[in-house]
Amino acid sequence: MTLAPLLQVDAVGKSFGALQALDDISFDLKAGETLGLIGPNGAGKTTLFNILSGFLAPDRGQVRFMAQDIGSWDPMRRAQSGVVRTFQKSLVFPDMSVCRNLALALLALQGDGYRWWGGRRALANAEAKARQLLAASPLADDCQTRVGDMSYGAQRMVDILIALAQQPRLLLLDEPTAGLTVAEAAQLLGLVRQLHADAAVVLIAHDMDVVFRECDRIAVLNLGRLVAVDTPERIRSHEAVRQAYLGALARQEV
Ligand SMILES: Nc1ncnc2c1ncn2[C@@H]1O[C@H](COP(=O)(O)OP(=O)(O)O)[C@@H](O)[C@H]1O
Ligand SMILES: [Mg+2]
Repeated sequence: MTLAPLLQVDAVGKSFGALQALDDISFDLKAGETLGLIGPNGAGKTTLFNILSGFLAPDRGQVRFMAQDIGSWDPMRRAQSGVVRTFQKSLVFPDMSVCRNLALALLALQGDGYRWWGGRRALANAEAKARQLLAASPLADDCQTRVGDMSYGAQRMVDILIALAQQPRLLLLDEPTAGLTVAEAAQLLGLVRQLHADAAVVLIAHDMDVVFRECDRIAVLNLGRLVAVDTPERIRSHEAVRQAYLGALARQEV
């Protein structure tokens, strides 16, 4: 018996007025797999993330997560079930410590306004969990460091830790490695795997070195269409990919 994929995207389409942002998108994802999502600006990558995380409803098609149709689930319910995303723009509070940022992410996930205001104990519990998580990360010594005082790379790591604090089963990373060196990007993604080996990860990134090195499979979007989903090796030699995406791939001399 084969297990059902963790995520099944089936014939998803989305239009904005006359613009077809996504057209007939289908792919599967298994637990533990890292899928790179690449394509030129405007290809539909972020729109796909918005649909998977529940911020946008597709016009057509279905999204199944853990064998359930999650089309009617709002973003909070999806996050609580393990569909966790990061945003292109960081959501950290720069004036607060790393630990406090993580604790607030944990509290927000509980979705309980009363605790937000009333619960010193809830905050203390969340901070204890945050410290535990930090202890296992490269930021172990930075619990009390103000996020705004950290390096750019360390701040991106805080973004990832905030996502990991939410116990992701499906982790949607929207350009988390932008502005990082290849080595820093590898460290960032290594942290995901160290703490959540079983999560499925979808990674949007523009750095082809990072994508081709870190991903098990790569999905190529162009003008809202999925041109190919395949192993890095086969994507390199895929004719339609080369045509759709020649500039970026050519720069990598594939
Ligand atoms: N809320 C929206 N309203 C209208 N058009 C949108 C909206 N969001 C995205 N688009 C358009 O859909 C296309 C895909 O955008 P996006 O998913 O952001 O692409 P990518 O993340 O690959 O750069 C673009 O042409 C963009 O302008
Ligand atoms: Mg985008």
